[in-house]
Amino acid sequence: MCGIIGCRTTTAAPGYLITGLKLLEYRGYDSAGIAVSAADGSTALFRTTERVDALNGLVRAWDGPALGGIGIGHTRWATHGGVCVTNAHPHQDCDRRLSVVHNGILDNAGPLRAELEGAGHSFASEVDSEVICHLVEDRLKVTRDLLTAVSQSAEQLTGSWAVVVLDGLTGRMVAAAHRSPLLVARSAEGTFLASDISAISDWVEEYRILGDGDVVEVSEDLAWTRAGIPSLAPPPIMRPPRASFSLLDQDDHMNSEIDEQPEAAARVIEGIGRSVADGTLWTGLGLPPFQRLRVIGCGTSLNAGAIIGAGLSRLGGQAHSMVVASEAAGTVIEPGTLTLAISQSGETADVLRAIDEGPEDAPVLALVNNVHSTLARKVDAVLSCSAGPEIGVAATKTFVCQVLVGTGLVIASLVASGRITRHDARSLVDDLYGIPERFAAAALAAHRELPGLVEEVRHASGFLFLGRGAAVPYAAEGALKLKELTYRWAEAYPAGELKHGPLALVETGTPVVIVDDGDPRLAGNISEVRARGGLILSVGRPGSRIETPLSALAPCGPLEAVVPLQLLALRLAVDLGFDADKPRNLAKSVTVD
Ligand code: M6R
Repeated sequence: MCGIIGCRTTTAAPGYLITGLKLLEYRGYDSAGIAVSAADGSTALFRTTERVDALNGLVRAWDGPALGGIGIGHTRWATHGGVCVTNAHPHQDCDRRLSVVHNGILDNAGPLRAELEGAGHSFASEVDSEVICHLVEDRLKVTRDLLTAVSQSAEQLTGSWAVVVLDGLTGRMVAAAHRSPLLVARSAEGTFLASDISAISDWVEEYRILGDGDVVEVSEDLAWTRAGIPSLAPPPIMRPPRASFSLLDQDDHMNSEIDEQPEAAARVIEGIGRSVADGTLWTGLGLPPFQRLRVIGCGTSLNAGAIIGAGLSRLGGQAHSMVVASEAAGTVIEPGTLTLAISQSGETADVLRAIDEGPEDAPVLALVNNVHSTLARKVDAVLSCSAGPEIGVAATKTFVCQVLVGTGLVIASLVASGRITRHDARSLVDDLYGIPERFAAAALAAHRELPGLVEEVRHASGFLFLGRGAAVPYAAEGALKLKELTYRWAEAYPAGELKHGPLALVETGTPVVIVDDGDPRLAGNISEVRARGGLILSVGRPGSRIETPLSALAPCGPLEAVVPLQLLALRLAVDLGFDADKPRNLAKSVTVD
């Protein structure tokens, strides 16, 4: 989703800005732009709805005054207004003196815009962010100081923002943040800003994070203010090692990420196995004992959470509840509850909001793939799912690693609380050790069957996914992958619900994917579908269309079945001519709520 970069360097800014934006590409975006100060006090603006690389061509074609070392850049994922160059950031004020990039959503953009237009301001775009340009323009005319103008403008905003304002005339640059990540870093190479450290980690060793309400002058001596009052800069944080990836020109990340799952699972299990069996994976977190687990997340992370929560209840008889992060407001948190917030990116706004709005004294544990993320910084303890970089927008190996680490956590906490014995925990861990091999076998079975199966379903307009018990979240995950990548309707239900409504959708040829973990009640549901001409595509126990090896104890339920489900979505998407790595309308890191 949206990404920000800014720089104040001695050499020309475009190189830094475009390199940084390329490192933010994996998050997903639909337009990009940079604004760079020029030698004559003007600002050069370059924007595109093509890939970030297209900015290089625009800069090369520039024949205006020499470009300087101060600039800002942005990748946009449309929320307000369609995808077009005029809606791309940076936006500018009426005089084109100020340029602004903004992440987040302004709740009061409508009334502010009406007020500003009434006062004579002329808007160029449909984007909420543009109000910031005109607000600062007004305040700057009165205060004649950019830091004050941005502070006063921020006071008028409601919603969320990470914003950088560049004054082309003076070369001053001011950043402000509220409920949206933004960080600033200085080094011998210059001063940098970014919404994600990965964009600038090549040029800095440490960085500082803007807190809610902070407004900072980005100069050689960072002038930090909080709630309008000069304050000390927060302590620096060492930057993490740079992840070795960018979207570049590769187009098949999802495929290789599915292929990597046996190896990633083996690494994760090897890493946590011993500490699961003796309970130290839980005790090492230093969290208080809990009576019930409240799991929050979105999308695939929520499905992983459902598997982890169900494992706690099934293996140890402990209660759990599931909360869709965007619906967390107002949910009751009973004493003795541990909240487990799951997010591969750790930047999902719905999850961050849910944590912010929860009671301060209720412990929160985060399960993330990025231990330097905003979520990781907000919570009482952090576990890494250690999946490594995942570029495909559709979560695959992060899902598998979340399930494994989350299940390991559950087993460890049950050992530590005496609900299961160490001996039983050891058996469960031994079962986990077999997963990589079973993944590989499941992938082989899927590759054998999928070409014919894809041919059978390529014209189907919709799919049902069914399972029972521990298989239900896998059915949900299979349906999510299919709709995300193929743009076909896919609904998931506990199989028992079929006769309470969804059966009305089944007609001759309707594909019904059954995640078959051996529950004998599924036979009746399969008959109900067949009687209406539905096409049964079963995945799981022997005799299924795609057989996956069964685990003896199945602490994570039928995890192996997810491999054919992912591959079905991928193969059908490719067959239909869609880009599986970059599904339409979606982003890897969903930073708006
Ligand atoms: O980064 P997160 O795990 O918090 O992301 C949550 C969802 O946006 C994400 O899982 C989404 O559903 C995936 N694209 C699914 O493949």
